[in-house]
Amino acid sequence: MEIQEKAYAKLNISLDVGAKRADGYHEMVMVMQTVSLCDTLSVRPAEDGRLSARSNLRFIPNDDRNLAVKAARVFLEAAGESGRGLLLELQKQIPVGAGMAGGSSDAAAVLRALNRMAGGRFTRQELEKLAEQVGSDVAFCVAGGTALARGRGEVLEALPSLPDCTIVICKPEFSISTPELFRKLDSAPVRHHPDTAGILDALERQDLRAVCRRLYNVFEDVGDRRMRTVAQIKSRLLDHGALGAVMTGTGSAVYGVFTDADAAARAARELRGEYRFACVAEPVGRLME
Ligand code: C5P
Repeated sequence: MEIQEKAYAKLNISLDVGAKRADGYHEMVMVMQTVSLCDTLSVRPAEDGRLSARSNLRFIPNDDRNLAVKAARVFLEAAGESGRGLLLELQKQIPVGAGMAGGSSDAAAVLRALNRMAGGRFTRQELEKLAEQVGSDVAFCVAGGTALARGRGEVLEALPSLPDCTIVICKPEFSISTPELFRKLDSAPVRHHPDTAGILDALERQDLRAVCRRLYNVFEDVGDRRMRTVAQIKSRLLDHGALGAVMTGTGSAVYGVFTDADAAARAARELRGEYRFACVAEPVGRLME
């Protein structure tokens, strides 16, 4: 039996970083949004009894360094089926090293798929607990939608959905390493913080413009030379009529929010000619209740 599952990308509506904790992780406050750009996962039993992954991208590891494999191992262990062989096949569309939780989303899709195969044995809350063992962003990706994430990113609260809009996502050639950017932040304290309370209030009122005025990511202010390119892409999105634009996660992808789908399509077309990746996407609601 083969089972398929979509692994959706996430964007940060806001990203705030607080103190570094004793365990080396940073205290985060993030408003997150699932979007329609997605990888496709298919899972099938492996005759050789091995657990492995395969993907359309050659540079992605197929062993335990792949979060999808790690997630399957964590799931099988919790289900008491550690010896089971599975082939996880990933059709990647989400750019790698972009701040869109591509690897985490694949891992969460594995948890949902294996749970479906097991007849819904675990609840959403239980899957989120398993997800925490895999990586900081994986728990959010289990149910997705619009959510406030705290702690390492695993303490979640569902929020009212982002109002309808069209999102243009653009990623420049370079990728940014997550641990590297956290280290930079440690040597230069955060000067400005996002207005998280204002974003929560705007979502409550379903005021898209008020949300977009508050898009903010503290990583844009770490004094990294590459943020100049990020700022250039933001300007281009705003010139095309975006209500707001911001970098997602630790970058390097940047997105802009549009109410005019035609303007969004024009922006994506133009940016695609200049940068490595550009696409149009829409917000996606919660995947599990
Ligand atoms: O948990 P995950 O493996 O996704 O995190 C990758 C790296 O990002 C960590 O090793 C750490 O350097 C950094 N990180 C952090 N604080 C967080 C999340 C991630 O410092 N809340």
